Amino acid sequence: MLFMNSQTRFLNSCKSKRVDRPPVWLMRQAGRCLPEYRALRERHDFLEMLTREELIAEVSLQPWRRFQMDAVIVFADILLLPMVLGMELQFLEGQGPKFPHLISGEKDLGALKKFNAAADIPFLTAALKKIKRETKDEAALIGFAGSPWTVASYVTQDFEELREKNPALLKKILGRLTKETIPYLKAQVEAGADVLQIFDSWGGILSPSEYAEWSAPYIREIAAALKATGVPIIIYVKESAALLEEMIATACDVISVGWETPLAKAKQIAGGKVAIQGNFNPHILMQATPEEIRLAAKNMIREMEDYPGYIANLGHGVLPKTPVENIEAFTNTIKLTADS
Ligand code: CP3
Repeated sequence: MLFMNSQTRFLNSCKSKRVDRPPVWLMRQAGRCLPEYRALRERHDFLEMLTREELIAEVSLQPWRRFQMDAVIVFADILLLPMVLGMELQFLEGQGPKFPHLISGEKDLGALKKFNAAADIPFLTAALKKIKRETKDEAALIGFAGSPWTVASYVTQDFEELREKNPALLKKILGRLTKETIPYLKAQVEAGADVLQIFDSWGGILSPSEYAEWSAPYIREIAAALKATGVPIIIYVKESAALLEEMIATACDVISVGWETPLAKAKQIAGGKVAIQGNFNPHILMQATPEEIRLAAKNMIREMEDYPGYIANLGHGVLPKTPVENIEAFTNTIKLTADS
């Protein structure tokens, strides 16, 4: 098959069309593992990094300049949306993100602002435009948000108990987050995102029937609202082996699966209805030798050869201590695979 540019390769894969080789990128490639990110982080705190156009663009482009992945994910965070809705977000060094005032009742929910892209995320939309100008069609640009369920787990008081104690309140929180996530993602598309990913990192704590009640309907509503943009949507759920049918039922275009899910099983369940992303083990990427990584990556690609619509990626985010040469071994192996 003729050589394709990265954007076409990526978009065709999302739509389950045949491509010259699988596109490749890594979840959490922006930030975390690169020395050039850490050098910037020494001079700026995390919240500053998240809200300054030039820093967002720079961190998004760092992995692409080094490895020429097929996609650039914009440097942001799933917690940015509740922050711009008015929730104070702290980022304590060594401890990660924290909301000191969680939502514990209707009053807190009512105090949230209505999302307004122009006022709330001008730095993010400007950064997306800047990245697009630099990468053109040599990379697909990925925008993202957390799923309502996963974002709720960070912003809600006594989250785990609320499902039993006050399910009506939790459903209101999920509904409200859904309503605000739609324009948040639309604004990213208008600023140049070619693809969207929804991170449902805490979906895996739910059983299939619970997932179908508490997470999938909200993601389905977001996907339906974005359908008219024509931009494909990837749904990622951590520890999703038991949830593949429920993920497919959200009507997203791509399911992103973890390493606990055998790809043969994912293929069988997805059955050509949706594309598949994943599922290299990030612990192997961090610990194995480049030679071992090349072998394992080749096996993964071979297993997916007969499936139309496959995006090479990890089963979860790249781990902070992953050596740069291991990432290089992984991405280069995928890029050298052609189906001719
Ligand atoms: O994919 C990318 O590289 C884009 C950037 C991105 C970040 N966070 C930047 C970030 C993305 C896609 C996220 C998603 C995110 N954020 C998720 C879902 C994905 C997942 O890994 O399950 C979650 C649960 C969060 C919330 C969050 N943000 C946590 C728990 C933490 C601390 C732990 C960690 O990941 O380092 C963050 C901070 C954060 N978000 C960092 C980065 C680069 C590290 C900040 C630093 O110390 O410099």
